[in-house]
Amino acid sequence: MFFKYRGLQFEARPEQPDAVYAMKLQELLGGAYGEMTMAMQYLFQGWGCRVPGKYKDLILDVGTEELAQHAIVSGGGPLLADSAGQAWSGRYIVASGNLQADFQANVTAEMQGTLQATRLYNMTDDPGVRHMLRFTIARDTMHQNLWLSALEELRADGLEGLPVPAAHPFEERDLDHAYQFWNVSEHTDSALGRWASGPTPDGRGEYEYVADGRPLAEEGPPPAADPLLYVTAPADSDTAPAGPDQANSPRPQ
Ligand SMILES: [Fe+2]
Repeated sequence: MFFKYRGLQFEARPEQPDAVYAMKLQELLGGAYGEMTMAMQYLFQGWGCRVPGKYKDLILDVGTEELAQHAIVSGGGPLLADSAGQAWSGRYIVASGNLQADFQANVTAEMQGTLQATRLYNMTDDPGVRHMLRFTIARDTMHQNLWLSALEELRADGLEGLPVPAAHPFEERDLDHAYQFWNVSEHTDSALGRWASGPTPDGRGEYEYVADGRPLAEEGPPPAADPLLYVTAPADSDTAPAGPDQANSPRPQ
């Protein structure tokens, strides 16, 4: 359940109304990395979390805080839309149930959200707005850090590992291709990075740089054409049987 207090987590007091800036600020509310996304992402992750105790509590605490931040930013009759007026979408949220994959998405979202907040910080001189953004940027700083700590702790607790998902049998992968960097351009600058040689972060492999990536299979014939779809095809091409939804349709002779 939720419990409501009358107070605000932090009071925002803009000195001047500024309709154009308010439009820009919509990104922090209804944008892909805005407060609505973060609150919904964490609440869905938390409600679906199968690990009782500290992890579930962490996720739901942060999700509840994001609702409080939503309240701070939504003072002046905002829309649930981004700075271009596009309506917020549930498609923005990530909640797979795999905590490592989800926490990694949370770090990314907090970083993108902080990036947008700092850009918006530089777009206003209003001391009240800057005061509020200093607070939300500070909270995002904590949120970036706490998800990074939670990722470390998941591995320390043996709940996940690399590569995700740790429970998928490692040998079921095509291991010949699991650690190859494929260069598929005429430039080979990509060979100069840590991702091209040496041990991999999952501790299970060594990077191999394939300087000249080539197709693994020959180009085959195109798939057979269903005559009822009237695609252009050579007269002698194979025909595929009609799908079940076409079982009662008349067949061309
Ligand atoms: Fe946050």
